Amino acid sequence: MRIDIITVLPDLLQSPFGASILKRAIDRGLVEVYLHNLRDYASNKYKQVDDYQFGGGAGMVLMAEPLDRCLQELTKGRKYDEIIYMTPDGTPLNQRMANQLSMQQNLLVICGHYKGIDQRIRDLWVTREISIGDYVLSGGELGAAVLCDAVIRLLPGVLNDETSALTDTFQDNLLAPPVYTRPREFRGLQVPGVLLSGDSGKIEAWREEQAYKRTRERRPDLLDTGDDPKMD
Ligand code: ADE
Repeated sequence: MRIDIITVLPDLLQSPFGASILKRAIDRGLVEVYLHNLRDYASNKYKQVDDYQFGGGAGMVLMAEPLDRCLQELTKGRKYDEIIYMTPDGTPLNQRMANQLSMQQNLLVICGHYKGIDQRIRDLWVTREISIGDYVLSGGELGAAVLCDAVIRLLPGVLNDETSALTDTFQDNLLAPPVYTRPREFRGLQVPGVLLSGDSGKIEAWREEQAYKRTRERRPDLLDTGDDPKMD
């Protein structure tokens, strides 16, 4: 997979891709991530990429021309499966969406800033708008990092047995069951006996029961829907 990210703050995105599982995925050649500084596509000597909004009001808007220039350049080289704009008014990111995007070859992610990007770029170029939650961030970069992490960890070969995605929370629309490691007793609290029984059938049944219990208690909304209508 290849992911191109357009941003005014490439430095902010260096660190999420430079550590742990994402770094390993890049080092192993399982994903290529390219950061494009929007200022490189500005036309004037001040490298201006934002301007006041028509109609007045507080907050700057990322201008259409630099974004369009950058998008023209990138799409010359390849066809993108999705051109994604990170925005709080987008479709909320969920596991199903991450699974679906992890099956694509080429993703392009646009990070907004200030009040966002000129609507005409959304109209002309963007194929999918994604929010990482009902709160406003100061830019799309952290959202893009979250999206990329959720997608990249699903690529074949990125996780090993110890970090397998198959038993993740949300993978069956269920929260994950509780997990324990050594010691068996900690400040008077015992590891549930079934996990020490060695009976894999019983352990599986216990985990499933706990996953349902936790989901019922914390996120009953996940049990309501077999299919998530928010996806498309
Ligand atoms: N940019 C600003 N807020 C955001 C959010 N909640 N999700 C994605 N991108 C954003």
